[in-house]
Amino acid sequence: PIAKSLFGLDDLEEKIRSTYDLSKVIIVPGDCESSPFTKRELGRAGAKAFLGVLRGDDTIAVTGGSTLAEMADQLTLPLSASYKNAWVVPARGGLGESMEIQANTIASTMAKRIGANYRLLHVPDLLSEEAYQSLGHDSNIGEIVQIIRRSRIIVHGIGDALEMTRRRRLDETTVSEIQAEGAVAESFGYYFNEAGEVVHTMRTIGLRLEDILRTEVVIGIAGGKRKAKAIHAMLRFGQEDILVIDEAAAVEIGKEI
Ligand code: G3H
Repeated sequence: PIAKSLFGLDDLEEKIRSTYDLSKVIIVPGDCESSPFTKRELGRAGAKAFLGVLRGDDTIAVTGGSTLAEMADQLTLPLSASYKNAWVVPARGGLGESMEIQANTIASTMAKRIGANYRLLHVPDLLSEEAYQSLGHDSNIGEIVQIIRRSRIIVHGIGDALEMTRRRRLDETTVSEIQAEGAVAESFGYYFNEAGEVVHTMRTIGLRLEDILRTEVVIGIAGGKRKAKAIHAMLRFGQEDILVIDEAAAVEIGKEI
């Protein structure tokens, strides 16, 4: 708290919070792009914010990414709490991430760390239209998708659009399309333009845009100066309730509001 007021971060938290009508904004000092320590602190702050809203019988949908992996690792079960009736699920199916940072992996890590249950969604990456249609009719997959879609809490990472297309090895035609559409941010397998509008959707199953709009608690966790534009786009999308970011991103966003 002392460091925060010293750097004026609490003022910046309040400025971002009130501009976008969020319930809470948390800024950790530093830049997680250059400092693994800051990234860990971002994960820790994210974990704390998540536990702050978690109830015993919740269903929680989580996305993938290195930031969420850090958050999952930092979760520790508060002594008096029990989450044995809670469920953690991945927000959406395969998006072309490496195993360690897939939503399935993060869902299982989080569940184990807080003593909750988990269900995984085993869907191949980059679905064809045909596969997409037939998986939608599979009853086992349908059952887990129903659980995902009724989550009370979503915890998600935010990525720079171009960086995510590269990391997920999308083909050049798709990358050009996404760029031409003006995408700056990616989250949940949706690509957003600067105004926070969805301009491109990855073909997978799970949480849909309409579910995000009605979810009670949406927690976004991201940091790094290079992600400032992406985070700002997600703020304009307007569905975040709790935002956990680092100083480097916050300062950039602060310049624009
Ligand atoms: O959707 C966005 C990405 O999951 C963010 O990934 O936390 O590794 O930057 P990252």
